[in-house]
Amino acid sequence: MDRNEDLSPRLQTVASLIPCCETVADVGSDHGKLGVFCLRENVCKKVIATDIHELPAMRTKKRMIEENFEKRSEVLVTDGLKGVPLSSDMTAVIAGMGGLEICKILSAALHFEKPVPKGMSFVIQPQRSFYEVRDFLSKNGFSIQDEKISLERGHFYVVIFAVYNGVAYDLSGEELFLGPLILKNRPQYYEEYIAHEEKLMKKRALGEEKCAELLKNWEKYL
Ligand SMILES: C[S@@+](CC[C@H](N)C(=O)[O-])C[C@H]1O[C@@H](n2cnc3c(N)ncnc32)[C@H](O)[C@@H]1O
Repeated sequence: MDRNEDLSPRLQTVASLIPCCETVADVGSDHGKLGVFCLRENVCKKVIATDIHELPAMRTKKRMIEENFEKRSEVLVTDGLKGVPLSSDMTAVIAGMGGLEICKILSAALHFEKPVPKGMSFVIQPQRSFYEVRDFLSKNGFSIQDEKISLERGHFYVVIFAVYNGVAYDLSGEELFLGPLILKNRPQYYEEYIAHEEKLMKKRALGEEKCAELLKNWEKYL
């Protein structure tokens, strides 16, 4: 049975992109619901939850204890993935944070003494700055393999699944703004999302030439 009743629609979409793996690192775990879900559903054997603040880390710890997952979990008060032993059979989830903060966390992890290994996967859900996040991922060798859209209380959320292989690549302007796999696969909520993005793009087009360019051929996304 899929016991995801504790997860909001946004977190359900995040969870749906986590592959079965040895360890899930839940970065910015806060309430700890995602980690508990992964352990309950045996998505992974172990969860390492991190939070930069003591209070949310305590919240996660408390939830793990309540759910009897103390032995299968570790909770660290740390910045991003600092102190987490990274491995190729690990998935790091970084959800519910600003895109620039996510880029900072990934960039730091690429420069650790034992940096992000090839094959390690990432589920990323930025609250904003999608263009910058995809730009960072493509320039730093994180291959975007899937993207989904979630709708929660009238807000659209985009979730990206990427695997680090160290090979940089180029994304076009439309791929950076709208998502290469969103454009290719047209996932659930695609039409609504594109209509929403068109409105935003019209506002941004007043000051940004690249947005004005995209709008000229908008009908191809419909
Ligand atoms: C809005 S909550 C999101 C919680 C959960 N990941 C989710 O998606 O529902 C953001 C959490 O990230 C934590 N956080 C922010 N920056 C962080 C960083 N650099 N490293 C670890 N945790 C961070 C915050 O303390 C907060 O608990």
